[in-house]
Amino acid sequence: MAGLSCGVTLTLLGVLLLGAARPPGGAEAFVLSLPRTTNITILIKRGLLPLGANPCHLLVSGKLSATLLIKPGDRKEFRFTCQNPEAHFVIEVERNIDCTSHPCPFGEFELQPVISLLPHLNRTFIWDIQAGKSTSLELVFSRPRLRQIGRGESCPDGVTYNINGHIGATEVRIGTFCSTGTVSRIKMQESVKITLHLPWFDKRSHSGFSMSSQSSIKRLCFIESVFEGEGSATLMSANYPFSFPEDELMTWQFVIPAHLRASVSFLQFNNSNCAKKEERVEYYIPGSTTNPEVFRLADKQPGNMAGNFNLSLQGCDQDAQNPGILRLKFQVLVQCPHNESNITYEVDLSKEQAMSVTIEPRPVKLSRRFVPGCFVCLESRTCSTNLTLAHGSKHRISFLCDDLTRLWMNVEKTISCTDHRYCHRRSYSLQVPRDILQLPVQLHDFSWKLLVPKDRLSLALVPAQKLQQHTQERFCNSSFSYLVAGTGLGQDLYFGSFCAGGAIEQIQVKQNVLVTLRTFAPSFQQDLSRQALTVTFIPYFKEEGIFTVTPDMKSKVYLMTPNWERGLPSLASVSWNISVPSDQVAYLTFLKERTGLVCQTGRAFMIIQEQRTKAEQIFSLEEVLPKSSSHHHNFWVNISNCSPVSGKKLDLLFQVSLTWRTLDMTVILIAVVGGGALLLFALGLIICLVKKNRKKKMNKGPAIGIYNGNVNTQIPMQPKKFPNVQKDHDAHVYAVIDDTMVYGHLLQDSNGSFVQPEVDTYRPFQGPTEDCPPSFLLPYSKVPTIKLTTKESSPDFNPESDSEPYTFSHPSKQNGSDGNTDIPLLDGHEPAETGE
Ligand SMILES: *[C@@H]1O[C@H](CO)[C@@H](O)[C@H](O)[C@H]1NC(C)=O
Ligand SMILES: *[C@@H]1O[C@H](CO)[C@@H](O)[C@H](O)[C@H]1NC(C)=O
Ligand SMILES: *[C@@H]1O[C@H](CO)[C@@H](O)[C@H](O)[C@H]1NC(C)=O
Ligand SMILES: *[C@@H]1O[C@H](CO)[C@@H](O)[C@H](O)[C@H]1NC(C)=O
Ligand SMILES: *[C@@H]1O[C@H](CO)[C@@H](O)[C@H](O)[C@H]1NC(C)=O
Ligand SMILES: *[C@@H]1O[C@H](CO)[C@@H](O)[C@H](O)[C@H]1NC(C)=O
Ligand SMILES: *[C@@H]1O[C@H](CO)[C@@H](O)[C@H](O)[C@H]1NC(C)=O
Ligand SMILES: *[C@@H]1O[C@H](CO)[C@@H](O)[C@H](O)[C@H]1NC(C)=O
Ligand SMILES: *[C@@H]1O[C@H](CO)[C@@H](O)[C@H](O)[C@H]1NC(C)=O
Ligand SMILES: *[C@@H]1O[C@H](CO)[C@@H](O)[C@H](O)[C@H]1NC(C)=O
Repeated sequence: MAGLSCGVTLTLLGVLLLGAARPPGGAEAFVLSLPRTTNITILIKRGLLPLGANPCHLLVSGKLSATLLIKPGDRKEFRFTCQNPEAHFVIEVERNIDCTSHPCPFGEFELQPVISLLPHLNRTFIWDIQAGKSTSLELVFSRPRLRQIGRGESCPDGVTYNINGHIGATEVRIGTFCSTGTVSRIKMQESVKITLHLPWFDKRSHSGFSMSSQSSIKRLCFIESVFEGEGSATLMSANYPFSFPEDELMTWQFVIPAHLRASVSFLQFNNSNCAKKEERVEYYIPGSTTNPEVFRLADKQPGNMAGNFNLSLQGCDQDAQNPGILRLKFQVLVQCPHNESNITYEVDLSKEQAMSVTIEPRPVKLSRRFVPGCFVCLESRTCSTNLTLAHGSKHRISFLCDDLTRLWMNVEKTISCTDHRYCHRRSYSLQVPRDILQLPVQLHDFSWKLLVPKDRLSLALVPAQKLQQHTQERFCNSSFSYLVAGTGLGQDLYFGSFCAGGAIEQIQVKQNVLVTLRTFAPSFQQDLSRQALTVTFIPYFKEEGIFTVTPDMKSKVYLMTPNWERGLPSLASVSWNISVPSDQVAYLTFLKERTGLVCQTGRAFMIIQEQRTKAEQIFSLEEVLPKSSSHHHNFWVNISNCSPVSGKKLDLLFQVSLTWRTLDMTVILIAVVGGGALLLFALGLIICLVKKNRKKKMNKGPAIGIYNGNVNTQIPMQPKKFPNVQKDHDAHVYAVIDDTMVYGHLLQDSNGSFVQPEVDTYRPFQGPTEDCPPSFLLPYSKVPTIKLTTKESSPDFNPESDSEPYTFSHPSKQNGSDGNTDIPLLDGHEPAETGE
């Protein structure tokens, strides 16, 4: 106290000059002078404490005085009559700052006058700052940040901030704050009055805040709280516990570390009586799809929020007669999230070439119901709602989410072959890496994008357990399925959804394909361990897909054409290789005839071909589908689409079931095998007749595959037109069918040259069609399925005698044969194939 000279003058902010001095020697004598140019006033007055046994007095210029007011330009000398004036008197230093007419003193606020020049009394510094109407003033409290306290509470260190504002002429109390809290910024519109109470022993020289001005905040005030770790903050609406000003808006912003989560709970609130509008709180919550989240005060407030959020209190137009009271006291609790949250998972993609893992929110129906944020954090630092992990590195992730079922994971991996020589016959196992399976988030899709060199290689997908195609008749209810979709450049082709437990042994696809493992239940992990899918690069083929099906007697097999419901793409063809065990019979039944398929160009047809004998039955798919047929040997079902008129689609669903061969058949077989040529012929004749009768009975619908028999059918059959006939068994079939559009590509011979089918000579049948089954069958055979080689067909197709509509039953030549006529018209097993 002593030792300070008189008239110490401080230059503050270049504008304000203030001098305060204490007379030398006189321990209890003070001199305070304020420059005329300041807007500071100093008031010394009695504290609120009652006068004690040893009263203390203030002597101003030797006269007893209750208070002392020092105004700008004043110079006052005073002293106290006791040794402990701090127990009796307080000092108030008020400074008016008018930013509308003077430059605002922005930056750090120093305490003026310097505390050491003032008597040791409890001190109150008041800054009353005015700014323009559309200006806001921002107070930044660097550490220690502030903690709001309620009415009647006091701060342990005696250092207290009061923040007040104005709405018009009415003062609004924003709040009372102690040091060491979370409030870091307070923004007020237009004006702010800051009151800092310091106990007499406090020696600070800084106010603890800095100020700047900002554009309008369009609300009463804005309070920012920063959490650096776990903790809580209790905050109150302006004027609390009294009523929040009518129709005002106040916002709190919360800055929360990424690894923590915040919950809001309303400790106390009351609603006023609204005449217009509704009182509410609104949140902006990261990750919410429905921001702002609007709540009534009575609602349960959001919890477990990760990331920074803000909360606004919106008042209403109150009923003038009975306004009621709007007030709110709430707590924000910031905690380490429980369980999952602090577990770190490592996902090692460093050895992956082309794989990405996306963890994202499961799509949900939008609702107004609040859902807390659900985050994935990389290295526990950067959290987001949607995270994609790229290949080439290791990732450490953790989750900030109350309910991990709200997330799912999608993975895409590309396996591509650029050099067909290298890939040919190579196999890859389509497996889900363990790092993916260990994550606590459900794997939704794991997609393998399989890319092959165009026209060079195709793909074979071979499952460890045979697959079932998902159909209405027999649907997949397993925990996961494989979705297979062609990803050609043109039209995409969805082959279908396949799950374990069926008869499909292999799926071969012509070109690039996307195989997606889609899960439906968490139990897929166990089921997956029994399943595996291997992809092999195989020589190129021209059908869109070939399915290898080995049914068993346990259950019926349902199969359907790709792109179900949308129709097989124009001109696409698909084949099913259906195997039949030697002691069993397969029944092939077409269940759904979706259509009224109408072709614009080309013909849509189906070929059922016994593999052993190559005997074929051809059906036009623009007509009624064939009835059930039985098959004793492996057979093909080949379907080929035309280019349909728009709106007409080709969708076929068929069923294969197995039964034991009947004894009759065995007998016949034995007989056939054991008998001579005559017996064989006779038997064949009998059975064929039986068969034909049966067929007649069955075939009540219009005939299938109607052609105008008057046209010359011979031309395409001429072998010389098919120089490579041996390698191209299909040529004659497709030429007859008149389907350049469909199978034109198949007519290319192995040299790649295009064999022009002489299809122009064929015209679709224009005349009336008959109800009866095919009767083009050769007179000496009477068998619906007969053997005709390409060569020998020529003489037998008598256009004149063949003018009636017929069902093609047109076998091709035997494999390895050069098409000579020596091939028996009826082979020994024929009866078995056509009989029951
Ligand atoms: C001082 O206060 C008065 C009244 O509040 C005001 O008119 C004046 O502009 C203020 N001066 C400064 C420097 O703030
Ligand atoms: C000074 O402040 C302290 C609390 O910080 C209080 O206990 C004391 O009563 C005050 N003194 C006066 C005279 O008001
Ligand atoms: C405020 O609400 C509380 C319940 O939250 C209630 O007990 C109290 O009576 C209300 N006060 C007023 C003034 O309406
Ligand atoms: C509240 O948060 C949202 C989103 O972060 C932001 O757009 C908005 O400006 C914030 N409101 C205030 C008053 O800061
Ligand atoms: C994990 O959190 C859920 C709900 O948040 C709780 O029910 C469960 O007990 C927690 N588990 C552990 C191990 O803390
Ligand atoms: C994770 O949380 C548990 C308690 O839930 C705690 O014991 C453990 O230390 C935490 N681990 C880390 C790495 O923070
Ligand atoms: C997540 O990000 C990926 C990649 O940016 C995007 O494709 C996907 O749509 C996003 N998901 C959500 C739910 O936003
Ligand atoms: C799935 O369907 C099969 C019959 O198709 C049935 O036996 C099995 O119980 C079903 N499983 C579940 C989980 O529904
Ligand atoms: C047809 O399937 C059977 C049984 O799986 C198989 O042995 C045969 O090789 C397949 N044929 C073709 C041409 O793929
Ligand atoms: C049926 O398709 C398979 C596989 O593409 C093929 O090998 C077979 O020759 C086709 N049969 C006919 C008669 O087209």
